[in-house]
Amino acid sequence: MIGVMLTLACLAGARAQGLKDAYKDYFTIGVSVNNFNVTVPAQMELILREFNSITAENVMKPGEIHPSEGVWNWEAADRVADFCRKNGIRLRGHCLCWHSQFCDWMFTDQKGRPVKKEVFYQRLREHIHAVVNRYKDVVYCWDVVNEAMADQAFALPGQEAIPYRNSRLYQLCGDEFIAKAFEYAHEADPDALLFYNDYNAAQPDKRDRIYNMVKKMQEAGVPISGIGMQGHYNIYGPSEEDIDAAITLYSSLVRHIHITELDVRLNTEMGGQLQFSRGASQPVPSYISLIQEDQYNRIFKVFRKHADVIDNVTFWNLSDRDSWLGVDNHPLLFDENYKPKRAYSIVRDFDPAWDARTPKEDFIPSELNQPGQLYPMVNSEGYARVRVDAPDAKSVIVSLGRRGGTVLRKDKDGIWTGTTERPEDEGFHYYHLTIDGCRVNDPGTHNYFGSCRWESGIEIPAHDRDFYALRSDIPHGVVQEVLFYSPSLGKMQSAMVYLPPTYGRFVKGKQQERFPVLYLQHGWGENQTSWSRQGHAGLIMDNLLADGKIKPFIVVMAYGLTNDVQFGKIGEFTAQEFETLLVDELIPFIDANFLTRPEKWSRAMAGLSMGGMETKLITLRRTDVFGYWGLLSGGVYAPEEIGDPSQVRLIFESCGSKEFPEGIDKSITALKEAGYPAVGYISEGTAHEFLTWRRSLREMAPLLFR
Ligand code: XIL
Repeated sequence: MIGVMLTLACLAGARAQGLKDAYKDYFTIGVSVNNFNVTVPAQMELILREFNSITAENVMKPGEIHPSEGVWNWEAADRVADFCRKNGIRLRGHCLCWHSQFCDWMFTDQKGRPVKKEVFYQRLREHIHAVVNRYKDVVYCWDVVNEAMADQAFALPGQEAIPYRNSRLYQLCGDEFIAKAFEYAHEADPDALLFYNDYNAAQPDKRDRIYNMVKKMQEAGVPISGIGMQGHYNIYGPSEEDIDAAITLYSSLVRHIHITELDVRLNTEMGGQLQFSRGASQPVPSYISLIQEDQYNRIFKVFRKHADVIDNVTFWNLSDRDSWLGVDNHPLLFDENYKPKRAYSIVRDFDPAWDARTPKEDFIPSELNQPGQLYPMVNSEGYARVRVDAPDAKSVIVSLGRRGGTVLRKDKDGIWTGTTERPEDEGFHYYHLTIDGCRVNDPGTHNYFGSCRWESGIEIPAHDRDFYALRSDIPHGVVQEVLFYSPSLGKMQSAMVYLPPTYGRFVKGKQQERFPVLYLQHGWGENQTSWSRQGHAGLIMDNLLADGKIKPFIVVMAYGLTNDVQFGKIGEFTAQEFETLLVDELIPFIDANFLTRPEKWSRAMAGLSMGGMETKLITLRRTDVFGYWGLLSGGVYAPEEIGDPSQVRLIFESCGSKEFPEGIDKSITALKEAGYPAVGYISEGTAHEFLTWRRSLREMAPLLFR
């Protein structure tokens, strides 16, 4: 008991851990704060749970703290510093010298005339000394110079390009102000880490400008100890390759890299200067959230890879509500109500074992591809790779992968490619593409009826795929379509009928053989074609027959009318209409047109998923019609629902090991104890998908009609 309680406590502890705990072996996790964040108790609590580094969003900036000569606003900055002191949190100082929110008074004298740079330096030095000294005990690093490099290098014809931002600072001092600011900060606190901080620091041109400047400064002895990459990203970029390359390059110069201002906005701008998307919070389409989650996943993977040089990652603001980008940009891990978004758990609950893994490059076309189509591909480990030609698209997502979607990335030729983050389960998967929010099929593959429409399909070769292989050494039966009129529906219906290879043969001196029939139902969203196409029911039957594992029987696969059932209304589903169609219309049609044995002990009904629900409802109501019952990922029977055990010769229940195998085991035990002929089967390593049901048919078929 105590053991159990300890385990539960540990689990709860593991679940309750914040970002800072999840990343304790990697880097500190910071947040930039406004006044509310450090005064509203619930927000303070959130900060203390999740973060172990803090940056003041505005109140330590030169123009805020020192708006005119001799005037100091310490109060708000002190509040942030005291919050950190009180809670033992490290404070990143932001910032000492910047063209924006700066002490513009430093550039002019009392009469408004420009001052000489010596006067400016004197004022800057006093400012830096005063601020650094005041917070020395709690600030461990400073963004000394912010955003000094140009977004685009500018050159007049015949002149050398200027890599610097053409700010008032630059106009007065050239790049010397950078060196001076670092020197002053170092004088004031020789122990503090001193950062050059900028946005778009992963963009290759700007990256090189930053690199060259820092290198030049270091060679001149300027005490720059770190580079801050702001990280004002968007959901489409930068690419992990660009971030990775920038970190790698910077780490050849400095031993400390901080991601100082991370957010991942929904609109397409990027960087530290932008048009704000102000306005109320609008709901985010799910495909947009998925792209954001994917971007967060990608960039944190890169950050973790570089944990040797990255020692802090700071989010720019606490929640979407606080974001300087406006709440409708939804750029952070906490939503406008301070609740963690899905992106939060993706960032927090990473699995280090998977970080360094890459798929084996032995991809081959999926066996379900249309003739001549290379993509989608699968590799020997079960990874899937999809490629789409959509040069003008803004986003392409494939509905494969463990989070329900894999985001593709576009190359320079307009070709989008994406590989699932991990191997997929073996077997068949339905999928589709979402191109700019529009759901479409992949032109590379054949289509299969699922989700109430024809969807793309991909097959991850299963290790045991031989049992549904199309063999050349054995006789094959036929799957044919029959068309029949349904008086209850007032229209024609179609069903697929599997006939074994020996069907219709005259046995010498005897009549034609008559066969038992299995009525086999598909799941919700599927139709009469699903079992034979993606389920390979016919091939499974052929192979079992050829291997002597079953006696021949007919399989009838009808449309179970399931697609008219709304998903939320499954609880109210009675299968009454389908019962009429099946028992009063289709079965008489089959018995009249095929060589069947028209009696209960030669008739079975089984179904997968929603077809299992139909099977259960109909077999229990029409015990006179079916002698063998099978539920494949389709629920269970309870002894008290059935009554007399002699009215059924087999109850087969199955599911995938990734579904709810305990439920099957429990039900089978109870049924057996109550005297019912029950058999259970769990398909190893599969979920609510067709490999589970192919295997279930293989296991169930030999038990029928014995
Ligand atoms: C932003 C603040 O978040 C806003 O509240 C303010 O109005 C403007 O500045 N790069 C930086 C940060 O280094 O200081 C900026 O912060 C965002 C861009």
